[in-house]
Amino acid sequence: MEKHFYITTPIYYPNSVPHIGSVYTTLCCDMIARFKKLDGYTVKFLTGTDEHGQKIEKAAEDNHETPQEFVDTLSASFRKVLEVYNFSCSDFIRTTEDRHKKGALAFWKTLEDKGHIYLANYAGWYSVRDESFYTETDLVDGKAPTGAPVEWVEEPSYFFNLSAWQEKLLEFYDQNPDFIAPASRRNEVISFVKGGLKDLSVSRTSFSWGIPLPSHPDHIMYVWLDALSNYITALGYPDTQTSDYKNFWPADVHMVGKDILRFHAVYWPAFLMAAGLPLPKRIFAHGWWTNRGDKISKSLGNTIDPFDLADRFGVDPVRYFLLREIPFGNDGDYSEQALIQRINSQLSNEFGNLAQRTLSMAWKNCDARIPTLTKKLEKIDEDLLNQAYQMLPELRSFIDQQAIHKYADLVWTLVTQANKYVDEQAPWALAKTDPERMEVVLYAVAELLRCLAILLQPMIPESAGKLLDYLSVPQNERDLTFLSAAYAVKQGITLTKPEPLFPRIITSI
Ligand code: ME8
Ligand code: MG
Repeated sequence: MEKHFYITTPIYYPNSVPHIGSVYTTLCCDMIARFKKLDGYTVKFLTGTDEHGQKIEKAAEDNHETPQEFVDTLSASFRKVLEVYNFSCSDFIRTTEDRHKKGALAFWKTLEDKGHIYLANYAGWYSVRDESFYTETDLVDGKAPTGAPVEWVEEPSYFFNLSAWQEKLLEFYDQNPDFIAPASRRNEVISFVKGGLKDLSVSRTSFSWGIPLPSHPDHIMYVWLDALSNYITALGYPDTQTSDYKNFWPADVHMVGKDILRFHAVYWPAFLMAAGLPLPKRIFAHGWWTNRGDKISKSLGNTIDPFDLADRFGVDPVRYFLLREIPFGNDGDYSEQALIQRINSQLSNEFGNLAQRTLSMAWKNCDARIPTLTKKLEKIDEDLLNQAYQMLPELRSFIDQQAIHKYADLVWTLVTQANKYVDEQAPWALAKTDPERMEVVLYAVAELLRCLAILLQPMIPESAGKLLDYLSVPQNERDLTFLSAAYAVKQGITLTKPEPLFPRIITSI
C-alpha cells in the first residue's frame, strides 16, 4: 500500500515581500515533508498566497496598482523564496486562481444548502490588519487584543452559525487529544470555545476585492472562509473523486503560527463539520520570531529579508540556524550574532570540520580513496555506527510529533560523539604507528558521515547532498532504508576531493 502524507503552510498575504517569519513556517514544513519522502511516503506539500480582502485592497491602493497587478508581483516573490530556499513544495495555490474560486464557491454553497448560513446585519469592530471581527469586550485600550487598530463596521452580511458547533467542537477536541499541538495551545483553544462562540460574519459588502457570491449580488466572501478552503480546493474540491483528494484529505498537518490558531482550530473544523467533510488530523501552532522582543511582522515593519540572508550566509546555514535556534513551538529572538555564532560553532567547527579533517586525511593517506581494510572494525567503532543505525525509530516519532528541534538535537549527538571518537583515536598519530588501524578509523568516520548526511538531508539538503557526493553514494541509495550496515560506504572507492562544506563566517568588528 502506498503511504500518503499531506502537509500545508498557511497561505501568506502578499501585501508585502516574504520575510523570515513566512520562510520559517515553510521551512519547518519542508523538513517534515522531506523526511516523510525519505521515509517512503508520497508527499503533498502545499503552500501559496492569500490574495483577497481589505488588507490587500488597501495595500494595492497605497501602491497605486490594481489589486490583481499588485498580487501578481508579490505572489511571484513568494514563489521565488521557495526556489531560493530549496523548499520541496509540490503545489502553490493562489486564491485568485479559477480552480480555487470555483472550489471556494462550492464550499460556500454546500454550507448554505445545508442551512448553516443566514442573512443579517453585522455591527461591530473589524481589524483590517488581522482580517478579523472583534466585539466590544474583545478590545484592549480601543485596539484589537493583537494590538491592531480596529474600525467600526455596519453592513448587511451573511453569517455562519458557528455557535451551533460549540459542543461538537469540544467533543471533537476531547476525542482527538492530538488535534491541536502543542498541548498549551490546545488548552487555549478549549477555553476560548468554552467561553462561548458567536455566529461568524462570512460575507462583506463595503468593498469589492474578494470572491463575489453569484447568488448574492453586492456580497463577497469573507477572506478567511475563502482562504481556509484552499486546503481542499488545491486537491480538486468540489470534486472529491480526484486522486489528490482521495489520497490526501484529510490533511496530516496544517502548520500555522500561533497568531492564526483560532481560525484553524475553531472556524475551519466547524466549517468542515457543517459541510460534512472529514477534519484534518493535526493543527500545529508554532511560536514567533521576534526582533528585539517585538513580533517580526510586515505590519510592524521590523522584518528580516530572507533573500539578503541567503545571499550573505548561504541557504543551508540559514536553514540550519532557523531550525535549531528555538525549540519548535516556542518564541525566539532573532539576532545576526546568534546566527553567525551557530553557523561557526556548529556547522563549521563541529560538523564541517569532522568531514573535512577525516576525508582529507583519507585523500592524502589512502590514495584518495575510502580505505580498503586489512583490519576488522573494533567494538568501539561498531558501537559508534550502531548508534546511527538504530536512531531512526526515535527520529521518526519526533517528526510525527513535529518535534523538529529534538530531531536536530538527537542527530547532533552523533556529530559530537564522532568528533570525540576522532580525537581519541587520533588517526594522525596512527598514520605513523598503526596505519592499518588508521584506515579503520577513517573508514568508520566516513560511514558515520554517510549516515549523518542521509539524516541531515531534511534540514540542509544541498550540503548533505554534497557530502553524499564526496562519498560517492548513488542517488538512489540516499533514503532512510539505506541507513544500515548493509549499505555501508564501499571500501576502495575513489573520493571526490573534499572542500569545506561550511566556511567560517568572518565578521569585521
Ligand atoms: O495570516 N514568526 O497570512 P500572513 C514566525 N493569510 N512565523 C511568522 C511570523 C513570525 N514573526 N510572522 C509570520 C495570514 N509568520 C493568512 C493565513 S491560512 C488559510 C491564511 C508566519 O501573511 C506564521 O506561520 O499574515 C503565521 O501564522 C503566518 O506567517 C501568517 O502569515
Ligand atoms: Mg499576519
